[in-house]
Amino acid sequence: MNGKVAIVTGGAQGLGAAEAEILLDHGASVVACDIRDDEGEAFAAAMEAAGHGGRIAYQRLDVTSADDWARVVAFAERRFGPLTSLVNNAGIPGRAGVENTTEEGWQRTIDVDLKGSWLGMKACIPSFRRAGGGAVVNTSSTYGLVASGHGSTAYSAAKGAVVMLTKAAAAEYARENIRVNCIHPGVVDTPRNQTLPPDWLEGLLRKTPLGRMAAPREIASAVLFLLSNEASYVTGTSLVVDGGYTAI
Ligand SMILES: NC(=O)c1ccc[n+]([C@@H]2O[C@H](COP(=O)([O-])OP(=O)(O)OC[C@H]3O[C@@H](n4cnc5c(N)ncnc54)[C@H](O)[C@@H]3O)[C@@H](O)[C@H]2O)c1
Repeated sequence: MNGKVAIVTGGAQGLGAAEAEILLDHGASVVACDIRDDEGEAFAAAMEAAGHGGRIAYQRLDVTSADDWARVVAFAERRFGPLTSLVNNAGIPGRAGVENTTEEGWQRTIDVDLKGSWLGMKACIPSFRRAGGGAVVNTSSTYGLVASGHGSTAYSAAKGAVVMLTKAAAAEYARENIRVNCIHPGVVDTPRNQTLPPDWLEGLLRKTPLGRMAAPREIASAVLFLLSNEASYVTGTSLVVDGGYTAI
Protein backbone atom coordinates (compact mmCIF):
# COMPACT_ATOMS: atom_id res chain seq x y z
CA MET A 1 0.00 0.00 0.00
CA ASN A 2 3.07 2.27 -0.17
CA GLY A 3 2.11 5.58 -1.75
CA LYS A 4 -1.63 4.93 -1.54
CA VAL A 5 -3.95 7.45 0.09
CA ALA A 6 -7.06 6.15 1.85
CA ILE A 7 -10.18 7.45 3.54
CA VAL A 8 -11.74 5.14 6.15
CA THR A 9 -15.15 6.13 7.50
CA GLY A 10 -16.26 5.20 10.98
CA GLY A 11 -12.54 5.08 11.64
CA ALA A 12 -12.55 6.15 15.29
CA GLN A 13 -13.17 2.68 16.72
CA GLY A 14 -14.13 -0.90 15.96
CA LEU A 15 -13.72 -2.23 12.48
CA GLY A 16 -12.87 1.16 10.94
CA ALA A 17 -9.97 1.72 13.34
CA ALA A 18 -8.61 -1.79 12.60
CA GLU A 19 -8.93 -1.14 8.87
CA ALA A 20 -7.14 2.20 9.14
CA GLU A 21 -4.39 0.57 11.21
CA ILE A 22 -3.74 -2.31 8.82
CA LEU A 23 -3.52 0.13 5.89
CA LEU A 24 -1.01 2.22 7.87
CA ASP A 25 0.95 -0.93 8.73
CA HIS A 26 1.25 -1.62 5.00
CA GLY A 27 2.46 1.85 4.09
CA ALA A 28 -0.66 3.81 3.12
CA SER A 29 -1.49 7.34 4.24
CA VAL A 30 -4.89 7.35 5.93
CA VAL A 31 -7.55 9.90 6.78
CA ALA A 32 -9.71 8.29 9.47
CA CYS A 33 -13.14 9.92 9.65
CA ASP A 34 -15.98 9.73 12.13
CA ILE A 35 -18.50 11.75 14.08
CA ARG A 36 -16.89 10.66 17.39
CA ASP A 37 -14.21 13.35 17.47
CA ASP A 38 -12.65 12.47 20.82
CA GLU A 39 -12.19 8.81 19.90
CA GLY A 40 -11.02 9.76 16.40
CA GLU A 41 -8.38 12.21 17.64
CA ALA A 42 -7.23 9.66 20.23
CA PHE A 43 -6.95 6.96 17.56
CA ALA A 44 -4.87 9.24 15.30
CA ALA A 45 -2.61 10.16 18.23
CA ALA A 46 -2.15 6.46 19.07
CA MET A 47 -1.21 5.72 15.47
CA GLU A 48 1.28 8.63 15.49
CA ALA A 49 2.79 7.21 18.68
CA ALA A 50 2.95 3.75 17.09
CA GLY A 51 5.27 5.09 14.40
CA HIS A 52 2.83 6.08 11.67
CA GLY A 53 3.52 9.80 12.15
CA GLY A 54 2.98 11.93 9.06
CA ARG A 55 0.68 9.35 7.41
CA ILE A 56 -2.41 9.55 9.64
CA ALA A 57 -4.97 12.32 10.16
CA TYR A 58 -8.40 12.42 11.74
CA GLN A 59 -11.24 14.45 10.21
CA ARG A 60 -14.84 14.86 11.29
CA LEU A 61 -17.13 13.43 8.60
CA ASP A 62 -20.80 12.57 8.81
CA VAL A 63 -21.13 10.16 5.88
CA THR A 64 -24.64 11.44 5.14
CA SER A 65 -23.35 14.96 4.40
CA ALA A 66 -22.13 15.78 0.87
CA ASP A 67 -20.55 18.98 2.24
CA ASP A 68 -18.51 16.98 4.76
CA TRP A 69 -17.35 14.64 2.00
CA ALA A 70 -16.20 17.56 -0.19
CA ARG A 71 -14.27 19.10 2.71
CA VAL A 72 -12.57 15.82 3.68
CA VAL A 73 -11.58 14.87 0.11
CA ALA A 74 -10.04 18.35 -0.34
CA PHE A 75 -8.22 17.93 2.99
CA ALA A 76 -6.87 14.49 2.03
CA GLU A 77 -5.60 15.74 -1.32
CA ARG A 78 -3.90 18.74 0.29
CA ARG A 79 -2.28 16.64 3.01
CA PHE A 80 -1.38 13.43 1.17
CA GLY A 81 -2.19 13.80 -2.56
CA PRO A 82 -4.98 12.31 -4.72
CA LEU A 83 -6.95 9.46 -3.17
CA THR A 84 -6.48 5.85 -4.26
CA SER A 85 -8.57 3.99 -1.68
CA LEU A 86 -11.90 4.32 0.11
CA VAL A 87 -13.34 2.17 2.88
CA ASN A 88 -17.03 2.90 3.38
CA ASN A 89 -17.25 1.35 6.83
CA ALA A 90 -19.40 3.70 8.96
CA GLY A 91 -22.68 2.11 9.90
CA ILE A 92 -25.36 1.95 12.53
CA PRO A 93 -27.15 -1.21 13.63
CA GLY A 94 -30.90 -1.56 13.37
CA ARG A 95 -32.69 -4.36 15.14
CA ALA A 96 -36.33 -3.31 14.72
CA GLY A 97 -38.66 -5.46 12.63
CA VAL A 98 -41.19 -4.44 10.00
CA GLU A 99 -43.88 -3.19 12.39
CA ASN A 100 -41.76 -1.50 15.00
CA THR A 101 -39.44 0.29 12.60
CA THR A 102 -40.29 4.01 12.67
CA GLU A 103 -40.09 6.16 9.56
CA GLU A 104 -37.34 8.15 11.21
CA GLY A 105 -35.38 4.99 12.12
CA TRP A 106 -35.79 3.61 8.62
CA GLN A 107 -34.52 6.84 7.05
CA ARG A 108 -31.53 7.21 9.38
CA THR A 109 -30.43 3.59 8.79
CA ILE A 110 -30.78 3.88 5.02
CA ASP A 111 -28.96 7.22 5.07
CA VAL A 112 -25.96 6.06 7.10
CA ASP A 113 -25.69 2.43 5.94
CA LEU A 114 -26.45 2.95 2.24
CA LYS A 115 -26.54 6.57 1.10
CA GLY A 116 -23.26 7.27 2.91
CA SER A 117 -21.46 4.76 0.69
CA TRP A 118 -22.88 6.31 -2.46
CA LEU A 119 -21.92 9.83 -1.33
CA GLY A 120 -18.43 8.56 -0.49
CA MET A 121 -17.88 7.11 -3.95
CA LYS A 122 -19.33 10.22 -5.58
CA ALA A 123 -16.90 12.43 -3.67
CA CYS A 124 -13.79 10.23 -4.03
CA ILE A 125 -13.98 9.01 -7.64
CA PRO A 126 -12.88 12.35 -9.18
CA SER A 127 -9.83 12.19 -6.88
CA PHE A 128 -9.16 8.55 -7.90
CA ARG A 129 -9.10 9.77 -11.50
CA ARG A 130 -6.41 12.27 -10.62
CA ALA A 131 -4.43 9.37 -9.10
CA GLY A 132 -4.90 7.20 -12.23
CA GLY A 133 -7.27 4.74 -10.55
CA GLY A 134 -8.47 3.51 -7.21
CA ALA A 135 -10.34 0.92 -5.19
CA VAL A 136 -13.38 1.00 -2.91
CA VAL A 137 -14.52 -1.44 -0.25
CA ASN A 138 -18.12 -1.05 0.85
CA THR A 139 -19.35 -2.69 4.04
CA SER A 140 -22.33 -4.98 3.87
CA SER A 141 -22.97 -7.73 6.44
CA THR A 142 -24.05 -11.34 6.62
CA TYR A 143 -27.45 -9.68 6.96
CA GLY A 144 -27.00 -8.32 3.46
CA LEU A 145 -27.10 -11.98 2.34
CA VAL A 146 -29.38 -13.77 4.80
CA ALA A 147 -32.05 -12.61 7.23
CA SER A 148 -31.17 -12.08 10.87
CA GLY A 149 -34.31 -13.84 12.07
CA HIS A 150 -35.03 -11.04 14.55
CA GLY A 151 -36.14 -8.17 12.36
CA SER A 152 -33.32 -5.81 11.36
CA THR A 153 -35.63 -4.61 8.61
CA ALA A 154 -33.97 -1.36 7.59
CA TYR A 155 -30.47 -2.68 8.32
CA SER A 156 -30.95 -5.75 6.10
CA ALA A 157 -32.52 -3.62 3.37
CA ALA A 158 -29.57 -1.21 3.45
CA LYS A 159 -26.90 -3.92 3.62
CA GLY A 160 -28.52 -5.91 0.81
CA ALA A 161 -28.64 -2.78 -1.34
CA VAL A 162 -24.93 -2.19 -0.70
CA VAL A 163 -24.27 -5.35 -2.75
CA MET A 164 -25.98 -3.94 -5.84
CA LEU A 165 -24.57 -0.45 -5.27
CA THR A 166 -21.16 -2.15 -5.35
CA LYS A 167 -21.84 -4.08 -8.55
CA ALA A 168 -23.34 -1.07 -10.33
CA ALA A 169 -20.39 1.16 -9.46
CA ALA A 170 -17.88 -1.59 -10.33
CA ALA A 171 -19.37 -1.99 -13.79
CA GLU A 172 -19.56 1.76 -14.33
CA TYR A 173 -15.94 2.55 -13.41
CA ALA A 174 -13.94 -0.56 -14.35
CA ARG A 175 -12.63 1.03 -17.56
CA GLU A 176 -11.19 3.85 -15.46
CA ASN A 177 -9.09 1.44 -13.40
CA ILE A 178 -11.42 1.84 -10.42
CA ARG A 179 -12.43 -1.34 -8.61
CA VAL A 180 -15.39 -1.60 -6.23
CA ASN A 181 -16.03 -4.56 -3.92
CA CYS A 182 -17.82 -5.21 -0.67
CA ILE A 183 -17.31 -7.31 2.43
CA HIS A 184 -19.80 -9.23 4.53
CA PRO A 185 -18.47 -9.45 8.08
CA GLY A 186 -19.94 -11.94 10.51
CA VAL A 187 -19.93 -11.30 14.26
CA VAL A 188 -16.99 -9.05 15.11
CA ASP A 189 -15.67 -8.07 18.52
CA THR A 190 -16.30 -4.32 18.29
CA PRO A 191 -17.94 -1.77 20.64
CA ARG A 192 -21.27 -2.29 18.88
CA ASN A 193 -21.44 -5.94 19.98
CA GLN A 194 -20.42 -5.18 23.55
CA THR A 195 -23.97 -3.90 24.12
CA LEU A 196 -25.68 -7.04 22.79
CA PRO A 197 -27.64 -9.07 25.35
CA PRO A 198 -25.40 -12.07 26.29
CA ASP A 199 -27.99 -14.67 25.20
CA TRP A 200 -28.24 -12.95 21.82
CA LEU A 201 -24.48 -13.10 21.33
CA GLU A 202 -24.42 -16.76 22.43
CA GLY A 203 -27.09 -17.53 19.84
CA LEU A 204 -25.02 -15.89 17.11
CA LEU A 205 -21.91 -17.81 18.09
CA ARG A 206 -23.82 -21.11 18.16
CA LYS A 207 -24.68 -20.45 14.49
CA THR A 208 -21.04 -19.60 13.64
CA PRO A 209 -19.05 -22.73 12.73
CA LEU A 210 -15.78 -21.20 13.94
CA GLY A 211 -17.57 -20.67 17.26
CA ARG A 212 -16.16 -17.26 18.14
CA MET A 213 -16.32 -13.61 17.17
CA ALA A 214 -13.83 -12.27 14.63
CA ALA A 215 -11.14 -9.94 15.87
CA PRO A 216 -11.48 -6.66 13.94
CA ARG A 217 -8.08 -7.29 12.34
CA GLU A 218 -9.42 -10.52 10.78
CA ILE A 219 -11.95 -8.47 8.82
CA ALA A 220 -9.47 -5.67 8.13
CA SER A 221 -7.09 -8.10 6.43
CA ALA A 222 -9.80 -8.87 3.84
CA VAL A 223 -10.21 -5.14 3.23
CA LEU A 224 -6.46 -4.80 2.83
CA PHE A 225 -6.46 -7.52 0.18
CA LEU A 226 -9.32 -5.94 -1.77
CA LEU A 227 -7.63 -2.53 -1.76
CA SER A 228 -4.20 -3.89 -2.66
CA ASN A 229 -2.72 -4.51 -6.10
CA GLU A 230 -2.95 -8.25 -5.28
CA ALA A 231 -6.70 -7.90 -5.99
CA SER A 232 -6.15 -6.19 -9.34
CA TYR A 233 -8.64 -8.47 -11.18
CA VAL A 234 -11.25 -8.45 -8.41
CA THR A 235 -14.17 -6.08 -8.91
CA GLY A 236 -17.92 -6.08 -8.40
CA THR A 237 -17.83 -8.92 -5.93
CA SER A 238 -18.41 -9.72 -2.28
CA LEU A 239 -16.00 -11.24 0.18
CA VAL A 240 -17.77 -13.07 3.01
CA VAL A 241 -15.70 -13.07 6.22
CA ASP A 242 -18.10 -14.64 8.68
CA GLY A 243 -16.52 -17.68 10.34
CA GLY A 244 -18.84 -19.87 8.25
CA TYR A 245 -22.11 -18.26 9.46
CA THR A 246 -23.70 -18.23 5.98
CA ALA A 247 -22.27 -21.65 5.02
CA ILE A 248 -24.85 -23.57 7.04
N1 LIG B 1 -19.49 -5.68 14.37
C1 LIG B 1 -20.10 -6.56 13.64
O1 LIG B 1 -20.37 -7.68 14.12
C2 LIG B 1 -20.50 -6.26 12.22
C3 LIG B 1 -21.06 -7.29 11.44
C4 LIG B 1 -21.42 -7.02 10.13
C5 LIG B 1 -21.22 -5.76 9.60
N2 LIG B 1 -20.69 -4.79 10.38
C6 LIG B 1 -20.54 -3.47 9.77
O2 LIG B 1 -19.22 -3.02 9.95
C7 LIG B 1 -19.20 -1.59 10.08
C8 LIG B 1 -18.46 -1.20 11.35
O3 LIG B 1 -19.11 -1.80 12.44
P1 LIG B 1 -18.50 -1.77 13.93
O4 LIG B 1 -18.88 -3.05 14.55
O5 LIG B 1 -17.07 -1.35 13.91
O6 LIG B 1 -19.42 -0.63 14.57
P2 LIG B 1 -19.12 0.44 15.69
O7 LIG B 1 -20.45 0.95 16.11
O8 LIG B 1 -18.20 -0.10 16.74
O9 LIG B 1 -18.36 1.57 14.88
C9 LIG B 1 -19.00 2.27 13.84
C10 LIG B 1 -18.40 3.64 13.73
O10 LIG B 1 -19.14 4.35 12.73
C11 LIG B 1 -19.35 5.67 13.21
N3 LIG B 1 -20.51 6.30 12.59
C12 LIG B 1 -21.82 6.06 12.84
N4 LIG B 1 -22.59 6.90 12.11
C13 LIG B 1 -21.74 7.67 11.38
C14 LIG B 1 -21.92 8.71 10.44
N5 LIG B 1 -23.14 9.15 10.11
N6 LIG B 1 -20.82 9.27 9.87
C15 LIG B 1 -19.57 8.85 10.22
N7 LIG B 1 -19.35 7.88 11.11
C16 LIG B 1 -20.42 7.29 11.68
C17 LIG B 1 -19.52 5.51 14.71
O11 LIG B 1 -19.32 6.74 15.39
C18 LIG B 1 -18.50 4.44 15.04
O12 LIG B 1 -17.25 5.00 15.37
C19 LIG B 1 -20.67 -1.15 10.03
O13 LIG B 1 -21.03 -0.77 8.73
C20 LIG B 1 -21.41 -2.42 10.42
O14 LIG B 1 -22.73 -2.45 9.95
C21 LIG B 1 -20.32 -5.00 11.67
